[in-house]
Amino acid sequence: MIWEQVESYEVLSARAADIFLSSIRQNPRLVLGLPTGKTPTGMYERVTAGCKREYHCFKEVTTFNLDEYVGIAREHEGSYATYMRRHLFDHVDIDAARTHIPNGNATNLELECRRYESEIGDEGGMGLTFLGLGRNGHIAFNEPGTPFRSRTRVVDLSESTRAANAAYFPDGNVPSQAITMGIATIMSSKRIVLLATGSGKQEAIARLRSREINVDFPASALWTHPNVHVLVA
Ligand code: GLP
Repeated sequence: MIWEQVESYEVLSARAADIFLSSIRQNPRLVLGLPTGKTPTGMYERVTAGCKREYHCFKEVTTFNLDEYVGIAREHEGSYATYMRRHLFDHVDIDAARTHIPNGNATNLELECRRYESEIGDEGGMGLTFLGLGRNGHIAFNEPGTPFRSRTRVVDLSESTRAANAAYFPDGNVPSQAITMGIATIMSSKRIVLLATGSGKQEAIARLRSREINVDFPASALWTHPNVHVLVA
């Protein structure tokens, strides 16, 4: 694991955007795993600005989002589909058919999870996945206690996670479930970059740094992966 501490959120976002853009420059057909949340917004801002200066950055790139809420429409303000359009997809030349987000409104959610896993497999797996870090150590929506062998499935959200995401649901109807890639799905990515910043994350960052591998702290699974870069501010 490469551990890189930088001096500010701006530097973290710039470093992450550099990794993002240089990876798709190196492999224009890259398959990316993408996160949501507050942390990666600075990275997306710089990626879209960088892409505007280049030629056809995203034309052949494929993306798989880590997760999506259950029971809300794609068009809902708080959905991750809306987040991705707002922060990335609407600003770059990506082919909509190559962007994948689990459908949390599917009639058969189990089937949707299996379909999502097999779509990732059909694309040959993710080459590079960016992750945020939950205050309780969750990655995507894999809450503490999630087995490391887990794959894409429906999960119940913890109260702390629902509280952390409540701002995206001003009507107070914070979803209680989500579809998330599992820890094994994330770990199948060839390369992983985790971004962590903010005073609320310091405890989780310290716990990750301790190298203790424990299912009660999902991000600790990353210590068993051969190519992880942690960017901390
Ligand atoms: C949500 C997302 C995670 C994200 C986490 C942290 O729970 N499902 O993928 O990493 O929030 O978000 P933030 O960056 O807003 O702290």
